[in-house]
Amino acid sequence: MLEAANYSACETLRDGRRVEIRALRPDDRAGLIAAVARSSPETLYRRFFAVKRHFTEPEVEFFLHVDFINHVALVAVIDEGGQPMIAGGTRYVVVQPGKAEVAFAVIDQYQGQGLGTLLMHHLAAIAREARLEQLIAEVLPDNVPMLKVFEKSRLPLSIKREPQVVHVALRLR
Ligand SMILES: CC(C)(COP(=O)(O)OP(=O)(O)OC[C@H]1O[C@@H](n2cnc3c(N)ncnc32)[C@H](O)[C@@H]1OP(=O)(O)O)[C@@H](O)C(=O)NCCC(=O)NCCS
Repeated sequence: MLEAANYSACETLRDGRRVEIRALRPDDRAGLIAAVARSSPETLYRRFFAVKRHFTEPEVEFFLHVDFINHVALVAVIDEGGQPMIAGGTRYVVVQPGKAEVAFAVIDQYQGQGLGTLLMHHLAAIAREARLEQLIAEVLPDNVPMLKVFEKSRLPLSIKREPQVVHVALRLR
């Protein structure tokens, strides 16, 4: 049985670097803020649909305090010169019974190393264990890496394209 709140797995990036994918903890506040500071405007825009660097206290509370039932969050932690740094993360929020919306972000320096694909794999495992049926996401139409991550999940995928946004739905069962 996967226990989402204590989740931890070790993986290897394409360049051989080791990464721990683990449950977000309340003491990750400084690490999350540092990761936002290291993200380019384009990455922030693709994640939040706005270049958002500053968050209100209620927003920070929302991102940090997850219940691991209706809101699950994972971070990817990489050792940088002996310091653990958050290189990316993913989360889902249950929006109706059996269905959760997902979001991802990897800081620019670590993009293209397979981290998004790994985060997807681990989040989907937790979602399946939680007996969710569907994961959904809204993606900007030019966001090729995110769409590739969903395609590479090998989960049955349906895509609805609109001019401003692509609606993605992945079946878990
Ligand atoms: C989307 C995102 C999470 C993917 O993370 P990642 O660690 O780069 O993902 P991966 O390394 O697993 O790459 C996934 C695929 O996209 C491809 N890719 C990465 N960058 C690319 C680019 N600029 N152009 C085209 N393809 C690209 C990779 O090559 C890989 O495909 P491959 O395995 O066939 O080579 C990351 O790019 C990101 O944080 N983007 C900004 C935030 C965002 O878009 N969030 C989504 C909102 S839901």
